[in-house]
Amino acid sequence: MSNETWLITGGAGYIGTHIADEFIRAGKSVILYDSLYQGLEPRITYLRAHHKTEIPFIKADIRDYNEIEGAIRKYKVDGIVHTAALKAVGESMEKSDEYFQVNLEATNELIEIAKRNSVKKFIFSSTAAVYGSPDTMDPCTEDGPKAPISPYGDSKFQAEAKVTAFINTPGNFGTSLRFFNVVGTAAPQLLDNSVENLVPIVLGKLNKGQAPEIFGTDYPTADGTCVRDYVDVRDIARAHLAAADATSALPPAMNIGTGRGASVREIIDLVLQATNKSDTEVIQSPRRAGDPAFLCADVSLAKSAMGFTSKYSLEESIRSLF
Ligand SMILES: NC(=O)c1ccc[n+]([C@@H]2O[C@H](COP(=O)([O-])OP(=O)(O)OC[C@H]3O[C@@H](n4cnc5c(N)ncnc54)[C@H](O)[C@@H]3O)[C@@H](O)[C@H]2O)c1
Repeated sequence: MSNETWLITGGAGYIGTHIADEFIRAGKSVILYDSLYQGLEPRITYLRAHHKTEIPFIKADIRDYNEIEGAIRKYKVDGIVHTAALKAVGESMEKSDEYFQVNLEATNELIEIAKRNSVKKFIFSSTAAVYGSPDTMDPCTEDGPKAPISPYGDSKFQAEAKVTAFINTPGNFGTSLRFFNVVGTAAPQLLDNSVENLVPIVLGKLNKGQAPEIFGTDYPTADGTCVRDYVDVRDIARAHLAAADATSALPPAMNIGTGRGASVREIIDLVLQATNKSDTEVIQSPRRAGDPAFLCADVSLAKSAMGFTSKYSLEESIRSLF
């Protein structure tokens, strides 16, 4: 399995480049495909230098179906890791049509192209957002209620169904991996450049000399702030390798998290400690609509199905950023 060729869509993105890094280390060939809407070409330059290998990169939109089919044929692709997506929850409320086009329709088309070209493996980047805003303090299990509250979460949830139909066809393999909150980096060159996640948001504020902000301090959690499951991007990449190399059929969807919760206040404190700014004032603002008190993964399925458990601690993830 190590000499397989994998197409990684979103291959210049934060998670896509980490998956490429892990796959190359495991002896696989990767073809990267990205429109550079959010992706960064210097990340690919870094991977090429780091692994001393040529990595084909196609700069194109995933809605350019001729281009993507041409790439799959040219490189005789064995499997697809599909990370390309629009992922800003707030923006998805205003641009829901575009979110469904990129995250759902293009995923469906990509699966049709895979079928036409005998690509047998498909691993899809899904998200904890499929669970919506649960009002329990229990970890989310894969077969528990799914109630996305944003077009982003809904587009991913509906796309999962397309992936499930593909992998249910005899001879096909794959799964949808539901990532929780992704943090950390394998190298400074691969850092997360988005403004969606708490850690980059806090760092961005600190870099501008501004105070970090907590939305809601009256939740029914130990310190009153929201609790989330922060999983290292290197563990996300390891989970993809485990899924790619699995020798028996995988469940249609699996949570990828740590199974441990950390609060917003704990994360901010860790970032302040790491930047020697522990005396920085932290603004306490009212709750935001739609934020559940607790959203953490039950991680038992990924462990039993493919032997995957997370390896990096939260402290290691935060340290990797500096
Ligand atoms: N980062 C997280 O915490 C997190 C959590 C859950 C799920 N996810 C999912 O993981 C995947 C990767 O996320 P990421 O954090 O690496 O984000 P990212 O923005 O760094 O990567 C996504 C990549 O997709 C590319 N892209 C977007 N639209 C495209 C299009 N139409 N055609 C071609 N390329 C396009 C972007 O340029 C970008 O490089 C996404 O599907 C996201 O929904 C991320």
